[in-house]
Amino acid sequence: MIDFKQLAHDYKTPLYVYDFDYMSAQYEELKLAFKGRKSILAYAVKANSNLSVVRHFAKMGSGADCVSIGEVRRAFLAGIPAYKIIFSGVGKTDDEICEAIEKDILYINIESEAELSRVEMMAKKLAKVSRISIRVNPNIDPKTHPYISTGLHDNKFGVDLSSAKRMYIKANNSEYLDPVGIHFHIGSQLTELDPIRESAEIVADLVRSLAGINIELKFFDIGGGLGIKYDDEATIKPYDYAQAILGCLNALDLTILCEPGRFLTANAGYFVSKVLYEKQNGAKKFVVIDGAMNDLLRPALYSAYHKITAITDSKAEPRAVDIVGPVCESGDFFAKDYPLPKLNHNDLVVVHSAGAYGFGMGSNYNSRGRSAEIALEDGKARMIRKRETFEDLIALETEFLEG
Ligand code: LLP
Repeated sequence: MIDFKQLAHDYKTPLYVYDFDYMSAQYEELKLAFKGRKSILAYAVKANSNLSVVRHFAKMGSGADCVSIGEVRRAFLAGIPAYKIIFSGVGKTDDEICEAIEKDILYINIESEAELSRVEMMAKKLAKVSRISIRVNPNIDPKTHPYISTGLHDNKFGVDLSSAKRMYIKANNSEYLDPVGIHFHIGSQLTELDPIRESAEIVADLVRSLAGINIELKFFDIGGGLGIKYDDEATIKPYDYAQAILGCLNALDLTILCEPGRFLTANAGYFVSKVLYEKQNGAKKFVVIDGAMNDLLRPALYSAYHKITAITDSKAEPRAVDIVGPVCESGDFFAKDYPLPKLNHNDLVVVHSAGAYGFGMGSNYNSRGRSAEIALEDGKARMIRKRETFEDLIALETEFLEG
């Protein structure tokens, strides 16, 4: 049991708390699912990019899936070796491409024909060979929230099968490109296996057809997306996930690259807030807490459900309340009509499953400093990011800089 009261007392609120031991257990479970097969788990840094979190996975042998050069730099700083770092994303700049080539990462994931030409141009300029993988968009409906679906032609990600083949041929003929991998990622918070299996089959067929023209790939990158329990949804078991993928590969001898984010960190994280006030508008009851949408955007952005518990001495019966923050937006809520008992000033409200896409999607909206972040490991708590101060918020506003 995590002593949220003590943590709130020691570090103040609002506060992010991450259970590092839980992250380790998730990593081990997924790694074990691919046992007996060459595999790399490349942690999707975007899920939670705190350096201590990334270093935690680095120590376990993880690679990193990055979507900006900032994330690549984080991965390096956290101790992830270059040969386990990949760089994806539809809009890489020339500078980002050059830095990735110079850092000699495992491969750059290419998301369009135009980008392939750009990477070739940059590699030529640097007189280097760039290892690449191509992100295939298999046009499969992942059956998740439309904002986190990525594997349909309606989505901006990847290229269709025929373009992919053309691009592999082009890359194979280039003295500056080395096509080593193939990639697909159809969406996030996936709770059904069939769309994943179907996509893997389509992509594995392309690998076979490429082998037929002597383009031999080494990495089969299945993206991330494994869903977790926010509520009581049925989820995919890592073992079944791995078996489904392996079933599509048959005799293909490829290293599997998997890019889990949410699966590793979401349920390790808690967002802890204090109750400021209760109020009532007509029949509607609100609990106002000191955390807000700038700290955790998922409910406002996706109407995402997060389980919430209150830490209180109140013995009152639960009633339906909206749990809201101080930001000046009606979208600033954590839950609507959620059953909580009458709460008192300074009682705690804990938002669960906050370890992925929580802090990282935060902002300074309303000039609110970001929360502190705390790691729990081996029964001990330590601060891994300080609470932002007003001075931090204005530090880059040039006309007010000192000197
Ligand atoms: N690989 C690629 C290429 C991705 O685009 C993503 C996530 C991942 C791996 C990691 O996916 P995961 O295992 O975490 O599902 N902000 C949204 C999620 C956006 C996911 C974007 N891509 C949310 O809060 O639900």
